[in-house]
Amino acid sequence: MENFEPEIVAFCCHYCAYTAADMAGSKRISYPSNVKIIRVPCTGKVDAIHIMKALEKGADGVYVAGCLEGDCHFKTGNTRAKQRVDRVKKILEDLGWEPERVAMINMSAGMGERFAKTALEFTQTIKTLGPNPVRHAKTETQAVG
Ligand code: FES
Repeated sequence: MENFEPEIVAFCCHYCAYTAADMAGSKRISYPSNVKIIRVPCTGKVDAIHIMKALEKGADGVYVAGCLEGDCHFKTGNTRAKQRVDRVKKILEDLGWEPERVAMINMSAGMGERFAKTALEFTQTIKTLGPNPVRHAKTETQAVG
């Protein structure tokens, strides 16, 4: 588990988190390369099935990063995204998975440092949890077969 490098998917709103990631890059604030960014027009476009699919495909953790509460360009996209993330957390709990594998985060476009800090902290959390059970099972099957 020591060498475990998690794969993390971050659904980032074009108007805030994606721009914040850009800002982190332009300020040369580094963040873990484990985080794969998927740009979305608004976090309201991220459905529970997208998060579940990412986990099914082997992501060890998934977070959705949207505008600050009250600042969504589509009014309620980020609050809907939070509800979906909470729903996925509940599903994971029911499956016996750690709900901490998914998260909703809010930030503004100017928060490059927060983007980098979030990526780092989330990566640390997932490292502590270990590989996603699906990925772990696949690795064991390959080792046996
Ligand atoms: Fe950013 Fe909706 S526009 S979360």
